Amino acid sequence: MSHSSMDSVWHMNSQIAVIGSLNADFVINLERFPVAGETLIGRDFKVFPGGKGANQAYGVARLGGRVSMIGQVGNDAQADWLIANLAAAGVDTAQVRRDPTVASGVALIAIDAAGQNQIIIVPGANGNFGLDQLKASRETIASAGLVLLQLEIPMPTVEAAARLAKESGAVVIFDPAPARPISDELLAGADYVTPNETELAILTGVPPSDFTLAEALGKARELRARGAKKVLVKMGAKGALLVGDGMEHHWPAMPVTAVDTTAAGDAFNAAFAFALAEGQTELEAGRFATAAAACSVTRPGAQPSMPTREEVQAMLRITSQTVESHGLGIIV
Ligand code: RIB
Repeated sequence: MSHSSMDSVWHMNSQIAVIGSLNADFVINLERFPVAGETLIGRDFKVFPGGKGANQAYGVARLGGRVSMIGQVGNDAQADWLIANLAAAGVDTAQVRRDPTVASGVALIAIDAAGQNQIIIVPGANGNFGLDQLKASRETIASAGLVLLQLEIPMPTVEAAARLAKESGAVVIFDPAPARPISDELLAGADYVTPNETELAILTGVPPSDFTLAEALGKARELRARGAKKVLVKMGAKGALLVGDGMEHHWPAMPVTAVDTTAAGDAFNAAFAFALAEGQTELEAGRFATAAAACSVTRPGAQPSMPTREEVQAMLRITSQTVESHGLGIIV
């Protein structure tokens, strides 16, 4: 496989805008997931600030990046807390609106003993985030050098957001999560499409699967054939894979013990965007993002698990030593 890096100078120190969801995460830790009809006793219960959009915004801010959150909360007690938590990390929340007609988004999350999760979301105010609200944030989008999108707000809003971002020349990083069928226009409108393995399977029409690197590569090439510019596959313990025009690259995962994988993908996207925004090359940004995701799985919760820049750099130093002594660092 060949290596390549994109010109990073033109979005150096860019403002980042995240357009997406805010959720209150209701999290139960338990030994194993229940089967249908079964009742289990959990170990503990906590409420964390979450939502894929808010997690990505929070992740950028924790790393020290300049970021605005564009989204909606509802009319309930969670709303103030969700906004305040983002603001406390340094996220510009001026474009987070309140929908008085509905509750804030929630996610019910179960975490098993291996740190894997199952998530059910009820969109609430995120589901009412329409084109009018998006247009009201047009200036914030136009001033962003990078725009991060996910799929926890209505599809027409995501599609319009991608178009607006491209009109102003922003780099669009699109996380197709949770997986839903997406148009070829949206696929082609993003500079990076960043599925995990489950989302990659669903997007390419096969049952959710534990892909080998070679299989994931084949599936990423299928998305490219449909028009995706660059496909960045997040593969957890198998690392991450980038497939672009004439270039394919694999970053190995960092050797950590996962306690909670919730929002690891959000930590990855936040760190990848942050790194590009500060002028790192694409290959450096992918390594930085892999380290950020590794940090995040060692801690519980979505936003509380997002690492600082110092923590990511420490993870990178540990991993460099491991690579030297164990000969990891494999390229596909
Ligand atoms: O990506 C993790 C997030 O997915 C959680 O924070 C939860 O809110 C769901 O949206």
